[in-house]
Amino acid sequence: MKKITISPSLLACDFLHLEDEVKSAVAAGAGMFHADVMDGVYVPNISFGFDIIKSIVRVSDIPVDAHLMIKKPQNYIDVLKNAGVYSVTVHSDFDSPELVRRTLEDIKAAGMKAGLALRPCFPAETVLPYADICEIFLVMTVEPGFGGQKFMSDMIPKIREIKKIADGADHEISVQVDGGIGEATIGAVSEAGADNFVIGTAFFKAEDRKSAVEKFIEAAK
Ligand code: DX5
Ligand code: ZN
Repeated sequence: MKKITISPSLLACDFLHLEDEVKSAVAAGAGMFHADVMDGVYVPNISFGFDIIKSIVRVSDIPVDAHLMIKKPQNYIDVLKNAGVYSVTVHSDFDSPELVRRTLEDIKAAGMKAGLALRPCFPAETVLPYADICEIFLVMTVEPGFGGQKFMSDMIPKIREIKKIADGADHEISVQVDGGIGEATIGAVSEAGADNFVIGTAFFKAEDRKSAVEKFIEAAK
C-alpha cells in the first residue's frame, strides 16, 4: 500500500499559540509540517519568515517542509538549512532554467530534499527537465497566496501526468498537492497519484484533529 503523508499547513493555525498548535498536530498524527513563506511580491500576501520556521522546527517531532512563494528563493537556502528544515520547494516562474537547476542542486547539497512547485497555469511538462534532481513535485490546486480557497478540480489530470513523470524517474519523487484539500477532495487527488497532502483549513479548523487525520487517511486509501 502507498505511503500517505498528511502535512498540516501552519498558515491556518492559531499563531498566538504556535507551540501548542505544533504539538497538537503531531499528536493528531500529522506526518510533516508545511510552512508557507510568502513575500508579498511573488504572491499578494505576506506570511512568516525564517525565525518562525526555526522555532517551529525546535518544537516539532516531525519534519518541516518549506514552501517558498517568494522571489529569489536561492538566497535563503543556508538560512533554511540552519533552521533545520527537511525539504524546500520553490516556484520557478521568474528564474532561468539554469538558475532553477542550480537552486535545486544547492538545496540538495545543503542536505535537504528539493521540490518544484507548479502554480495552476503551468502544465505538467514544466517539471520534466528537473525530474533527475527533484524529490518532490508540488501541484498547486489553488492559486498560491491564501488558505481557505476552493479546490480546483481541473488540476486532477495534471496530478496524473505529474505522477507518471515521477514514476519514470530513477529515484523516488513524492507528489504533493496543496490547496483546498480536505475530506471531500483528498480521495480524488490520491487516486490521481498524490501521496503528500497539504491541509490547512480542513485540519486546523477541524473540531477533532485526530479523527480528521484518520478520515483523511481513510479517504486517501
Ligand atoms: C496557499 C498555500 C497553502 C495553504 C493551503 O498558497 O500554499 O499551503 O495554506 O490552505 P488550505 O488547505 O486552507 O487550502
Ligand atoms: Zn503551501
